[in-house]
Amino acid sequence: GGSVEVDIGAIPPGASQTVEWRGKPVWVVRRTPAMLAALQGHEAELVDPQSARQQQPAYAANPARAIHPEVFVAIGICTHLGCSPTEVPQGTANPSLPADWPGGFFCPCHGSTFDGAGRVYKNKPAPTNLEIPPHFYASATRLVIG
Ligand code: FES
Repeated sequence: GGSVEVDIGAIPPGASQTVEWRGKPVWVVRRTPAMLAALQGHEAELVDPQSARQQQPAYAANPARAIHPEVFVAIGICTHLGCSPTEVPQGTANPSLPADWPGGFFCPCHGSTFDGAGRVYKNKPAPTNLEIPPHFYASATRLVIG
C-alpha cells in the first residue's frame, strides 16, 4: 500500500500525467529530446543546480534529476508556499516568464520559475528545487511511486 503505479508507455513523448500519491500531486513528464536538450546551458541561472540544499533520492543527483532522463517524476507543489505550478513549454510567450525561458514550470502565486528538471530558475522566491518522490521501475514501462 501507499504506492502508485503509472504506465509510462501510455504517456506520449512531450505529454505528462499527474497522479496522486499520499495526497500530493506527482507529475510524470515524458521528455522529448528537445526537452532534454533544454535542461542544459543555463546552469548559471539556477539557484541550486546540484540540489545541494535539500535531501533527494541518489538517483535524482544528475542534471535531469531522473532515473531515466526521458521521464521526469516530481511532486507538483511549489517549494515556496505550496501553490501548484503549471508546466509551461519552451518558447511560450508570457510576460511573467523570462525572455529566454527554457521550458519548465511556473508558479502563479509569486512567480517562481523552475526549469524542466524542477530546478529554481532566475532566483525566484522558491528556496529549493521541486521535490523528487521516491520511485522505481518495476519494468521498462511500469513506474512505481512510493
Ligand atoms: Fe509558488 Fe510562492 S507559492 S511562488
